[in-house]
Amino acid sequence: ADGNAANGEKVFKRCQACHVANADQNRVGPSLHGLFGRKAGTKEGFNYSEAMKKKGEEGLTWDEETLAKYLEDPKAYIPGNKMAFPGLKKEDEREDVIAYLKEATAK
Ligand code: HEM
Repeated sequence: ADGNAANGEKVFKRCQACHVANADQNRVGPSLHGLFGRKAGTKEGFNYSEAMKKKGEEGLTWDEETLAKYLEDPKAYIPGNKMAFPGLKKEDEREDVIAYLKEATAK
């Protein structure tokens, strides 16, 4: 999928209440720094739900595909996870925010 990172930066404003992309700073949500290739539920110092930790232990790793599924419907993809966000229902918004995250979380 080829998202537009500049548009994705705008979409990310909806995530910023809880997440930082490019620094190791946990807020209401875990820092997304270093997200790609990281196992779910493993950012140091963040108090994850049991559901999120279990997904990581079962092998869930964040990449374009798994992020697209999670962000479409977080509660359906990981029942019991505690992210209070309904998800991004528009495919182009998901692709764009993922393109942005790919750049911003790798810095
Ligand atoms: C978890 C992305 C919006 C709160 C996560 C994770 C990702 C993510 C990838 C898993 C991280 C990991 O395993 O280390 C996003 C994106 C958002 C967004 C891209 C916007 C489109 C929000 C908002 C909030 C929030 C608005 C707060 C109201 C959380 C929390 C967790 C989490 C608390 C941990 C869930 C748990 O332990 O069950 N988010 N998020 N997120 N997010 Fe978000």
